[in-house]
Amino acid sequence: MRYSGKYPRRFEEKYKEHGHCGETVAKVLAAGKTPAGTHRPIMVAEILAALDPQPGDLAVDGTLGYGGHAQALLPRLLPHGRLLGLDTDPIELPKTESRLRALGFGMETLTVVRSNFAGLPQALWEAGIERADLILADLGVSSMQLDDPARGFTVKHAGPLDMRMNPQRRQPASVLLQRLGPAALRQMLEENADEPRATALAPALAGQLFSTTTELANAIRRILPGVPKEDCDDSIRRVFQALRIAVNEEFSALEMFLRHLPACLKPGGRVAVLTFHSGEDRRVKKAFEAAARDGIFGEIVGPQRASPEERRANPRSASAKLRWARRAAL
Ligand SMILES: C[S@@+](CC[C@H](N)C(=O)[O-])C[C@H]1O[C@@H](n2cnc3c(N)ncnc32)[C@H](O)[C@@H]1O
Repeated sequence: MRYSGKYPRRFEEKYKEHGHCGETVAKVLAAGKTPAGTHRPIMVAEILAALDPQPGDLAVDGTLGYGGHAQALLPRLLPHGRLLGLDTDPIELPKTESRLRALGFGMETLTVVRSNFAGLPQALWEAGIERADLILADLGVSSMQLDDPARGFTVKHAGPLDMRMNPQRRQPASVLLQRLGPAALRQMLEENADEPRATALAPALAGQLFSTTTELANAIRRILPGVPKEDCDDSIRRVFQALRIAVNEEFSALEMFLRHLPACLKPGGRVAVLTFHSGEDRRVKKAFEAAARDGIFGEIVGPQRASPEERRANPRSASAKLRWARRAAL
């Protein structure tokens, strides 16, 4: 026995179990959950239909994550095609590269680079690719990042209030929160997460030191006495989302990526972006519509939603919106 009780409880134990205990993994999947240390790719069939990968294509996965979408794209690029996989996370990226290499995708087919997708032109140039046939971005955090208490992304696990996708860059959420004034925090909560209780939360949270995810969640509960538990939990989730977006400067990275897109796509090339909340989707919609008006994108489609079956099997897909576009032929 590697743990007491019927199932592992601690993250480290669960992580070890993955791959060694197929029965447990099957039960976790059947319950609509994702086994610890893994990530289930969302709307794979819809993304394949949108990007229409062909043998010989040059593809970019700007958010490699667990490599789920990449794993579906790669066989369709062969022979002679290639995928450049980017991710800003230096902790999960080597694990993903090992997994994909073990599946037989060698250096000539798959290039893995730790890079922010905001730097897409530079990443393409360094990989010797002039323009791509298809580009994918599946925004936000992966289940592996959420599952790991040491990363501090979620209230579900007690851990340091960090939230950095790349812990070598920028400041942890605890430091950001301690440095913010009430007005800036209120604006951040409203803009990044549409938090309706921002006016009550901001003055009480701004400038305070919360070292752990639990300390922050408990403080929010104290600020909102009398608010029903479910509503309070929603506020906690939105505060965490707003902080994560700010810590990782997610909106400016997305805007930069969207600005670079037309120049990085071949004529007729396709881009698909999967978003998970209104702040992301708004930006993608606006950029696609502007490029269509300018005649740069010949076709824009979306938002498409996950099928009812997928939403049942993987609750995380419920908030996903897929938008895709095709660059005009010239
Ligand atoms: C939802 S997951 C992607 C999952 C992946 N599609 C799969 O099938 O396994 C999002 C990933 O994007 C990465 N990420 C988020 N923002 C990024 C950015 N600006 N540049 C590069 N990677 C980013 C995160 O580190 C995370 O691994």
